Amino acid sequence: MSRLVPGPRIAPLAAYRFAVDPYGFFAACQRRYGDPFAFDLGGKRLVVTGQPELARVIFTMDPDATRSFGTEQLAAVLGRHSLIVVSGERHRRDRKLLTPPFHGARMRSYGAIIREATRRHAAAWRVGEPFVMQATTQAISLEVIVRAVFGVTDPDRIAEVGAALVGVIEALHPVLLFSRHAQRDLGPLTPWRRFAAAQARAGALTRSQIAARRAEPADDILSLMLAVRDEDGRALGDDELVDELHTLLFAGHETTAIALAWAYSWLLRAPTVFARLRAELVALGPDPDYEAVAALPYLDAVCHEVLRLWPILPMAPRTLVRPLRLGPYELPPGTGIAVGTALLHQDPTLYPDPHVFRPERFLGRKVSPFEFTPFGGGHRRCIGAAFALYEMKQALAVLVPEYDLRLVDTTPPRPVRRNLSLGPAGGVHVVRAS
Ligand code: HEM
Repeated sequence: MSRLVPGPRIAPLAAYRFAVDPYGFFAACQRRYGDPFAFDLGGKRLVVTGQPELARVIFTMDPDATRSFGTEQLAAVLGRHSLIVVSGERHRRDRKLLTPPFHGARMRSYGAIIREATRRHAAAWRVGEPFVMQATTQAISLEVIVRAVFGVTDPDRIAEVGAALVGVIEALHPVLLFSRHAQRDLGPLTPWRRFAAAQARAGALTRSQIAARRAEPADDILSLMLAVRDEDGRALGDDELVDELHTLLFAGHETTAIALAWAYSWLLRAPTVFARLRAELVALGPDPDYEAVAALPYLDAVCHEVLRLWPILPMAPRTLVRPLRLGPYELPPGTGIAVGTALLHQDPTLYPDPHVFRPERFLGRKVSPFEFTPFGGGHRRCIGAAFALYEMKQALAVLVPEYDLRLVDTTPPRPVRRNLSLGPAGGVHVVRAS
């Protein structure tokens, strides 16, 4: 006999708690209802697990047994061609086309862009003047995407395209991601009207950049996207390219910026860790080789620990299109299933003292893809994971040896929701000490 997965019953309250504090909400549900538990989100039942064995079931499922979660809501915002939205054969094809530009070996060519952007934005920091770390890391990650992904090289144009693209993200009120009802033009000053206007502005600039790169290919991700062909020799069309480029911006810009802001929030609270990281970086000498930085074990452990503590996306969800047995439950098609990254990463049996920032726990340890899931997993695993880690490492390699920063407020910040992602409340206020 099939049993219902237990969970909170008052749907709007559960959705609200998930929106405001998914980490606390998931932990409370797990304590009260067991694992897995379920709640209603966007009109769908979503079953969440923080057990590695069930994460394995979800991440190793036949890709055709699931489709994306929240497809309709996300399609309206990211476009119906977005990789995050498409499923089945289409997802397989698009993933194949989009993977080569993000392959580890390609990263080398983006190292210079990352370090240059980091240096220039950090050069604006003045001794004694407080600033918000996440504002700088967002400026860095935006410039990296506009240059490395969109292939914009002219400094004025970088600023223009960057402002238009960031305008889309700023106009993306969280309600637009979770509710179909809000995705209607209900008049001036409503979130949808603002979002649609920002999207139209950015779309026009993106289309002109696509035309420029079609005419004159260069060493950037857009040029690679223009060159790829599927098995039938078909290239990505302009509408597809616009949706994919905006998806890469949406998925890759704030996430990486938040990761770097968290890194500083933790590092400045842990002087021993900071000193060990600094020594490892300084030992490489000035302007070290990109690959040498990427291979540093302690830097790698620091990045893992940053992504573990408050995972930027608290879960990796999908929708079943076939029945699934998950633990003792038989789940029907249409049910949402999610790996609760926030639960896995705070499980004391996997990570003793889970709330303590201790990069050493990752040294010499091969992490299981079902216990450490900041980039999700399986056939939908983040396509930009290598890019994001590379960017974190190259940026920290510039900042940590050169800048002496202090926290303005030493109280650890709580994560707050941005859109799908969550980042440190206040963005981490710091000051340059010398
Ligand atoms: C620290 C930074 C980042 C984090 C924490 C992160 C996390 C994630 C997660 C959790 C997913 C969902 C995976 C799943 O459902 O299994 C995802 C998907 C995705 N990410 Fe990232 N991401 C980051 C940076 C990036 C970057 C830099 C890019 C590209 C420039 C990117 C592009 C994407 C795309 C396109 C998808 C959708 C993949 C698919 O559905 O097949 N992400 N990311």
